[in-house]
Amino acid sequence: MKKLFTSAKVGAYTLKHRVVLAPMTRVRTLQPGDIPSPMMADFYGQRASDGGLEIIEAASISVQARSYLGAASIYHDDQHEGWKAIADAVHAKGGRAFLQLIHGGRQSHVDVTGGAHPVAPSVVPFDGVALTKDGFVPASPHRALEIGEIAEIVEDFRRAAERARKAGFDGVELHAANGYLVDQFIQDGTNRRTDAYGGPIGNRVRFLRESLEALISVFGADRVGVRISPSGEWGGISDSNPQATFSHVAKVLDSYGIAYLHVIEPRVKGDDTLHEGHPAVAAAYLRPHFSGPIIAAGGFGRDSAIAIVESGDADLVAFGRHFSSNPDLPFRLQHDLPLTPYVRSAFWGGTEENYSDFPTYEAPQASHRIAEEADDVADTKAA
Ligand SMILES: Cc1cc2nc3c(=O)[nH]c(=O)nc-3n(C[C@H](O)[C@H](O)[C@H](O)COP(=O)(O)O)c2cc1C
Repeated sequence: MKKLFTSAKVGAYTLKHRVVLAPMTRVRTLQPGDIPSPMMADFYGQRASDGGLEIIEAASISVQARSYLGAASIYHDDQHEGWKAIADAVHAKGGRAFLQLIHGGRQSHVDVTGGAHPVAPSVVPFDGVALTKDGFVPASPHRALEIGEIAEIVEDFRRAAERARKAGFDGVELHAANGYLVDQFIQDGTNRRTDAYGGPIGNRVRFLRESLEALISVFGADRVGVRISPSGEWGGISDSNPQATFSHVAKVLDSYGIAYLHVIEPRVKGDDTLHEGHPAVAAAYLRPHFSGPIIAAGGFGRDSAIAIVESGDADLVAFGRHFSSNPDLPFRLQHDLPLTPYVRSAFWGGTEENYSDFPTYEAPQASHRIAEEADDVADTKAA
């Protein structure tokens, strides 16, 4: 039996396999109010498996934290039932669900922040985008956070974790990847501060530490994961020495005894493969610095996922795009069954179509069998 399909201990939980659903913002909340919709609960319920882990799409922790109109958020009471329905749908099939928590920082627009300028550690030219009623548009100019405002954001993280716990999630994942606010503090291309949150790496991880500690105060370290994207290019982010920076980050995270470290390989940029054919490198160089479970993500298929877990560079593998169109992905991978291709045009918003209407492998086979039987009957009649 390949290790990918065997059990693994991840923080407080013992999983039955190591194929994880990667977080994917699919822009399908109900508006106004970013209310988690019934089709979202269907989507996550369909992808749940006994003893499997799902990381639920990024949920913004405040109005200021939003980046994409229609994306998820978790900061007001009216969202509770929708989130609970998602956690319940995963639990009904024996799965575990961690909710990813995000502050978008400078990847935002005044139309989604309630009119306020997006915030960042420092003001650095940025030509990225946000999603508004007019579609993907250039992000609004951002401003640097006052030092006194940082504690308020940390408190927003804590409150969001509290809401996630009440909704029934098994844990939370801190989104410290893809050039969003936590990542903007970590990397020196976006952090030019001269106070306690900028300069040497020990200072640049202060916001990461404080946000993480806020989540741990609610869930305990063994129910909190962190996602990073060393050398990732989404969000116009950069660092002068990514390997040193993220090795330090991994060591810092290791000291907390968190449930897992989730690493996006740099061959992927956000929702797309940038460097086709590149091997997985980040998990390998971080492995010596982090003693807990590592979830590798970004551009994996069946063979490469099996290989990285066998090698020990990662303990689990998260799949995004393939999971979007294969609700029974763990089963298909285990039995080496063909995969349904994903539909990019349905990624960033839409209806149930090409979202929660993908059949399992067994379903089309079953209907195919029925069709064949019907043909047989027809043949018999004709004869
Ligand atoms: C439509 C879409 C939305 C995504 N949203 C998120 C997100 O909310 N949080 C996050 O950390 N990554 C997000 N990602 C990145 C995925 O989690 C994953 O890292 C990426 O798809 C690469 O993995 P894959 O090659 O298995 O698809 C998104 C990807 C896609 C395709």
